[in-house]
Amino acid sequence: MLPKCLLTGASGGIGKAVAKQLAEKGYSLVLQGRNREKLTQLLSELPGLHEIVIGDLNNDNDRGLILSQAFKSGDPTVLINNAGVSLFSAFNHLESNEISQTIETNLTSTILFTYEFLKKLLYQKSTVMNIGSAFGAIGYPGYSIYCASKFGLKGFTEALSREFANSDIRVCYFAPRATDTNINSTNVIEMNKSLGSKIDSPDVVATELIELLEGTGLRRSVGWPEKFFARLNGVFPEIVDRALNKSLPTILKFTEGKNYE
Ligand SMILES: NC(=O)c1ccc[n+]([C@@H]2O[C@H](COP(=O)([O-])OP(=O)(O)OC[C@H]3O[C@@H](n4cnc5c(N)ncnc54)[C@H](OP(=O)(O)O)[C@@H]3O)[C@@H](O)[C@H]2O)c1
Repeated sequence: MLPKCLLTGASGGIGKAVAKQLAEKGYSLVLQGRNREKLTQLLSELPGLHEIVIGDLNNDNDRGLILSQAFKSGDPTVLINNAGVSLFSAFNHLESNEISQTIETNLTSTILFTYEFLKKLLYQKSTVMNIGSAFGAIGYPGYSIYCASKFGLKGFTEALSREFANSDIRVCYFAPRATDTNINSTNVIEMNKSLGSKIDSPDVVATELIELLEGTGLRRSVGWPEKFFARLNGVFPEIVDRALNKSLPTILKFTEGKNYE
C-alpha cells in the first residue's frame, strides 16, 4: 500500500501539480495551505479520497493543529515541505519584516514543522522531503534573503539526512529551478526572459519530485545548466562570480526599480 503523504503548500503552483500526480498514482494525501477555497477546489479535481488542513505554518498553534488533524485518521509517513515564499529585491531596499518573514517561512517554520512531525511519528519509518531551490546552491543577486533561506534549508536537510543515515528515516532535498508559478513576480518573469533563463512547467517539476520520492536517492536538482552551475559553484565559485557579473546589469534593472543609486 502507498504511504499517506502530507504535502504543505498544496494550493500553490508546484503543490497542485504534485498533488494531482500523487493522487493519480493512488497516494492518499493531506493537503495543507492557508486558503480553504483553493484547497477545496483542488480536492474536487483529484481522484481518490484526501483531506485538507488549513493553517499558517508560521504560527506555532496552527502547526500543532495541522499535525493533529493530519494524524487523526492514520499516520502520514511522508512529509513534503513544499510551502515557501520568494523575495526578489535589491538588498538595500528590503523592509526588515520581509527579511524575517522569508527566513521564517522557508527555514525556521520548515525546521519546526519537521521536528514536530517526526516527534508525532515517534521517529518511525518515514520520508521527509524538503523543497529547496537552485538558489540554495548558487548565491544570486537580488535574491540574498531567499538564497539565505534555501542555503539554510539545504544544510539542515543534509545534516539531518546524515544524522538519520542508520535509521528508517529518509530526509531528502529537491531543488527546482525557475518554474512557472505565481511565486515569481512580473519582474522576475521579465528578468528570466531577458536573461534567456529556462522556466519549467509545474508538471515537469512534479514528475521529477515524485521520481526522487519513489527512488532511493537523497537529492535531486532540476534542469541543465543550473544543475551544472550548482556543482561548479561548490568547487570553483570564482567562475560563477564572473558569469553572474556579466548578467548583473540586467538583473539590477529588474530589482523592482530598487537599484543601488
Ligand atoms: N516557482 C519557482 O520558480 C520555484 C523555483 C525553485 C523553488 N521553488 C520552491 O517551490 C516551493 C513551491 O513554490 P511554488 O512555486 O509552488 O509557489 P506558490 O505557487 O507561490 O505556492 C506557495 C505555497 O506555499 C504556501 N505558503 C506560503 N507561506 C505559507 C505559510 N506561512 N503557511 C502555510 N503555507 C504557506 C502557499 O499557501 P497559500 O495558497 O495559502 O498562499 C502556497 O500553497 C517553494 O518552497 C519555492 O521556494 C519554486
